[in-house]
Amino acid sequence: MFEKFYTERIKKTPSSFIREILKVTQNPEIISFAGGLPNPISFPQEELKVSMNRIADKFGAKIYQYSTTTGLDSLRQFIVDKYRRVHNMDITIDNVIITTGSQQALDLIGKVLVDEGDKVMLENPSYLGLIQAFCVYGADFIQTKLDDDGLNIEELKKTIKEHKPKIAYLIPNFQNPTGLTYTKENREKVFECIKDEDMILIQDDPYGELRFSDDERIPYIGVNQGKKNIYLGSFSKIVTPGMRLGYLIADKEIIRIIETAKQAADLHSNIFAQYLISDYLENNDLDLHIEKIKKLYKEQAGAMVDAMREFFPSDIKYTIPKGGMFTWVTLKENADVMQLFDRAIEKKVAFVPGHPFYVKPENINTLRLNYTNADCETIKEGIKRLSEAIKEL
Ligand SMILES: Cc1ncc(COP(=O)(O)O)c(C=O)c1O
Repeated sequence: MFEKFYTERIKKTPSSFIREILKVTQNPEIISFAGGLPNPISFPQEELKVSMNRIADKFGAKIYQYSTTTGLDSLRQFIVDKYRRVHNMDITIDNVIITTGSQQALDLIGKVLVDEGDKVMLENPSYLGLIQAFCVYGADFIQTKLDDDGLNIEELKKTIKEHKPKIAYLIPNFQNPTGLTYTKENREKVFECIKDEDMILIQDDPYGELRFSDDERIPYIGVNQGKKNIYLGSFSKIVTPGMRLGYLIADKEIIRIIETAKQAADLHSNIFAQYLISDYLENNDLDLHIEKIKKLYKEQAGAMVDAMREFFPSDIKYTIPKGGMFTWVTLKENADVMQLFDRAIEKKVAFVPGHPFYVKPENINTLRLNYTNADCETIKEGIKRLSEAIKEL
């Protein structure tokens, strides 16, 4: 009835496929590997309660008032200190803007940098939330193959030569949806390929902290080399997603234009949430908290991998996650993953078919499994059911 009023840009934007799947998985009998929800253990509820009272006493009306678009200075300073210490980044508070989740950062980047028809390079597959956000602005996507060690360098070179993308959007750590991480060598090669190109590189990193091994952190691509890097981070997976706080780190000039776009979008991110998270970070040991989350997710990932080894037919491939929240399964060529989905639902287990992670989904034989929201026994049972559905197919 209202369609004639809709804009062309929203008409061609896909609605979130996962939302549709989550409706099916509302049935409590279904074991769901479909969502991407952090385990509630990652919400420091008691500490946040203490912080709520403390900020109410300490800041009074300020926590309920309008505030600045770039965000609370103490929170921005926390990010600066952390990125200087951990990532060796040469930044100040003027390089940081707080956003309403990193999802808003993606939308704001789209608003500021993507004109109709602009070429944007993504991994193949990539984060569906980015595809959705940039689709609104008319991005012309090119997806570049992901290998076990990172971006396929031959394809990357070809993509750059043929398409000259204006933007590259990458998730180098524990990627969503595949769980893959680029090696140090791969990152260096990627940087070699793009360093002389007239291209903005976005590195989206909501999962980087959730690394299961004690291996050293692999540096981002091209840190402190050139000004065309944009880094995105989020408190969603390490403190709480419900507060909707993320951030964007970039050259000051980019921050200023993003600030203009953000004024138009929401004036500023929720200031109560910013005071709350800032107080929590000041008064608690975040690293210690992250250790707890990692320990849990590592066990859950291990349970899923063990179960896949035990039950899956030997020709089914999957990533062994070294961090983050997902693993990615590749069925036999020509297998129909939607058919598998229907059969899996009959057996009361759910996953996300690969489709929404591709710009042009054709002959999709892949699927994403999330392991952070079920206990190890349930994970084993769910994988057993899924493998029965696979074998029947
Ligand atoms: C790769 C990636 N980027 C961005 C987001 C958005 O996160 P948030 O808006 O909660 O910070 C997600 C959420 O799952 C994600 O997987």
